[in-house]
Amino acid sequence: MVFKLNIPKHVAIIMDGNGRWAEKRGLARSEGHLEGSKTLEKIALHAMDMGVEVLSVYAFSTDNFKRDKKEVDYLMNLIVKYFNTKFEKLNKKGIKVLVSGRTTNLRDDVIEAIKNVQEKTKDNKEGILNICFNYGGQEEIIDASIKLAQDINKGLDITNFTREDFYKYLYHDLPPIDLLIRTGGEQRVSNFMLYELSYSEFYFTNTYFPDFDKSEFNKALFMYENRDRRFGGLNK
Ligand code: FPP
Repeated sequence: MVFKLNIPKHVAIIMDGNGRWAEKRGLARSEGHLEGSKTLEKIALHAMDMGVEVLSVYAFSTDNFKRDKKEVDYLMNLIVKYFNTKFEKLNKKGIKVLVSGRTTNLRDDVIEAIKNVQEKTKDNKEGILNICFNYGGQEEIIDASIKLAQDINKGLDITNFTREDFYKYLYHDLPPIDLLIRTGGEQRVSNFMLYELSYSEFYFTNTYFPDFDKSEFNKALFMYENRDRRFGGLNK
């Protein structure tokens, strides 16, 4: 018998638990982030192989600037290194890399690396990896509203403006999120993609992100398969 899974088009992951993964092993928190970055690469490739079209991940929130300077610097250096080297593998697989978030407060080399990776992968068609970096969900809605207000000032007619139309004002015009996964045991949204999550299914696991492997990802897909999505209507 052949099983055909109903694969979510857009999956988002809150990659939590890197720090605890490291502390449990007596390692520095940075080791957890490094291991998490390796997991991200594996999961992104696997998600695309499974037929997911867009994978959005929370790599650094606007509020993460409240952490120790050492940890913030580590994450900034990690993203630069990643974009300048490791993403070649994703590029070869035809994955387009997008980055969502504000560039304010980011170092010039980080901004440059973000620009380069998006430029280098812009014509790729096999899937999208959307990395949310210096990102906040409320901030994204504010930034979109400002852009919309500017267009209204320029004469945009908003008489029949729909919630679908608002997507065009977000950092990238991506489909709504079908499945949100949060690793690390907490059950909250933490200011992540608030507009895009409106009708998504949630999957929480205690597994720390560095240990979140392909079979863990598949468990979330199986759960999604069995959810009854009604979008506010009734299934008869
Ligand atoms: C939350 O875990 C995780 C982060 C703040 C960073 C996530 C970053 C990665 C997975 C690295 C991949 C990024 C790149 C370079 C593309 P936490 O540190 O809050 O963990 P804790 O809750 O156990 O302390």
